Amino acid sequence: MALAVAVVVAIGTAATRGSGAMETCTNSPRILFAEPCEQIDQDEEARIEHAGTPPRRVPRKCREAFSRFGDIEIFEDEQEFVDDTFNGKGSHYAYTAADIAAYGKEAETLEPVVAALLAENKRLVTKVAVFGSQKPVIEGLLLSLGATKIVTVEYNALTLDHSRIRTVQGNRLPEDVGRVRLAVLVDALQHDGLGRYGDPVCPDADLLTMDHVLQRASYALVSVPTGRDAVVWNAHRIYGEHRLPLLLQGWEVQTSQAFTSPILNRTVFLLRKPSPTL
Ligand SMILES: *[C@@H]1O[C@H](CO)[C@@H](O)[C@H](O)[C@H]1NC(C)=O
Repeated sequence: MALAVAVVVAIGTAATRGSGAMETCTNSPRILFAEPCEQIDQDEEARIEHAGTPPRRVPRKCREAFSRFGDIEIFEDEQEFVDDTFNGKGSHYAYTAADIAAYGKEAETLEPVVAALLAENKRLVTKVAVFGSQKPVIEGLLLSLGATKIVTVEYNALTLDHSRIRTVQGNRLPEDVGRVRLAVLVDALQHDGLGRYGDPVCPDADLLTMDHVLQRASYALVSVPTGRDAVVWNAHRIYGEHRLPLLLQGWEVQTSQAFTSPILNRTVFLLRKPSPTL
């Protein structure tokens, strides 16, 4: 059970490239692994293979934390392996204001449940943070709903050329952004910490991101795959009875809507930070 003891470490050196905002793994009660595996895994094959690209297998020392000591099944199937770092080169997508508007118009087709939920809760769409974004579908939708300011946080380089959007490379909101009314995490958390985007391998990166969001946002709209708990290396996690409660810990669920698809069932949650009791 040695893994259950979390160790506080300075993380600044963990990033393989990019931002200075990589406070990926810090101490927290339900966090099994307090540092990225690649840091403690230096003598292992997985680390050697990694070198800025995703490891093809779950690093051995992280296995128990990813499976939560056997509660969560780990699948390692070559067909599910994704290298979104493009062999370590990284990506840089750029979109104009017209592109963003065009993607926004597609949101109802691409993300019908999210689009409906946001339209019903338009009052929350003021200052918004978007976590994880390669195509500005959500940003376009938020602008059409009247967002006053959008801060998009993305691991890879991203240019969104719009006066109301600021992009930040990394996985945390910078201090100077202050608080936001709403954070939107659509298909973002399930990838966090699997190395797929060149991010440090970190079994609890998703939980740590949610803790960060809880600090900075009053509401969160979260869409994740749901079903039987699993880690499908390195494509995504599936949240079930074991991990879903950990992900939502500290939040109040306002609404949730499950929707099925042939490949992956997902659930969209609208979460609210509980107000302090007086
Ligand atoms: C999705 O949910 C439906 C209905 O609950 C279920 O029958 C199906 O097996 C699920 N699909 C996957 C891929 O888990």
